Amino acid sequence: MALISGANRGIGEAVSRRLSQDGWALSLGMRRPEMPDFADPERTHLFAYDATTSAEDAWVAEAMARFGRIDAVVANAGVMIPKTVIEAEDEDLDRMFAVNVKAPRRLVKAAFEPLAAGGRGRVIIIASLSGKRVKSAKSGLYAMTKFAAVALAHGIRQSGYDRGIRATAICPGFVDTQMARSITDREPEAMTDPAELADAIAMLIGLSNTASVAEFAVNCQLEEQY
Ligand SMILES: NC(=O)c1ccc[n+]([C@@H]2O[C@H](COP(=O)([O-])OP(=O)(O)OC[C@H]3O[C@@H](n4cnc5c(N)ncnc54)[C@H](OP(=O)(O)O)[C@@H]3O)[C@@H](O)[C@H]2O)c1
Repeated sequence: MALISGANRGIGEAVSRRLSQDGWALSLGMRRPEMPDFADPERTHLFAYDATTSAEDAWVAEAMARFGRIDAVVANAGVMIPKTVIEAEDEDLDRMFAVNVKAPRRLVKAAFEPLAAGGRGRVIIIASLSGKRVKSAKSGLYAMTKFAAVALAHGIRQSGYDRGIRATAICPGFVDTQMARSITDREPEAMTDPAELADAIAMLIGLSNTASVAEFAVNCQLEEQY
């Protein structure tokens, strides 16, 4: 059973769709819960999840009551405020940290014992290439939170390794979702397809305990390093 935050659209929806096709039971966290058309209601649980309200313990408790196990967590919900580190206010940083860093940590902390119980728990933190480099002034503030998200994935990997938990920071460049469309005028075809990213995530979740991938960078364009 997999828990996925921000499952209603974009990358979260694509991962939910893909894992559902693969036969996974799902617990989908979204601010306005609605059963997706691709989901089988028999093995899909919905939770009204707002990442700013510390509802992670309650979500995990409901998911455990319904399924009795958690095998994977995909911490996907995220926000991007396109402000430079000079023009932003503390409130902008606080808002992004709350959703991009603090909520994923609480979610994995809440699910940690169930993840460990199966001996092969999987954690996917949807970070960003903005967690690896600062490509533009307007992505600087967001990058601060995504560098932290990459560090979170590494911290989880270190904390859970002995108990079979494997954590991966996913670091994509532009993915064709509302978030990317709001900050770039690239054509959709010139961005990574969320469905293809979801295929990669499903592959990573399926790897054995002896094939740990700490970071997975994927880009739609050529850059010096990525
Ligand atoms: N698209 C890209 O180019 C790209 C690249 C690298 C990394 N990412 C990361 O990928 C993840 C998914 O983004 P996306 O591209 O799919 O963007 P998106 O289409 O804007 O979707 C964002 C998702 O996060 C949810 N969310 C935002 N704030 C939330 C909150 N307070 N509580 C609960 N859910 C919340 C949204 O829910 P609502 O519908 O309720 O707003 C939505 O489901 C994010 O972490 C983003 O930073 C995206």
